[in-house]
Amino acid sequence: MLISLLFNMNLEPTFFSIDEIKTKEYIIIDNNVYDFKKFEEKHPGGAKVLVYFRGKNATDKFYKIEAHTDEIKKNLNYFKVGELIN
Ligand code: HEM
Repeated sequence: MLISLLFNMNLEPTFFSIDEIKTKEYIIIDNNVYDFKKFEEKHPGGAKVLVYFRGKNATDKFYKIEAHTDEIKKNLNYFKVGELIN
């Protein structure tokens, strides 16, 4: 417990409703919720698409991009802020 607090690891994921995701301008991929705000200007595919998908579900689009390798799919975790309430 102490270790997890020290390393700021959540034992339980934070759950977000669609309304919260819209307000906070997070992006949904699968059942996960991401904050790409700080990454938008760094995205190799450009900021525009990430700005467009703010508050939206980008699952289909994200997986259709061939440049999104398995490595990139794993790196999504760095941007994860929680999961979608079902
Ligand atoms: C961990 C997060 C992400 C990483 C590391 C990443 C990385 C990349 C890379 C390396 C490319 C190729 C750029 C090139 O060919 O020059 C790319 C393209 C692209 N990405 Fe991402 N991406 C991420 C998230 C997303 C998300 C959430 C979306 C939303 C749907 C997205 C949409 C696109 C699009 C539309 C392209 C352009 C494809 C094209 O021009 O053919 N990406 N991304």
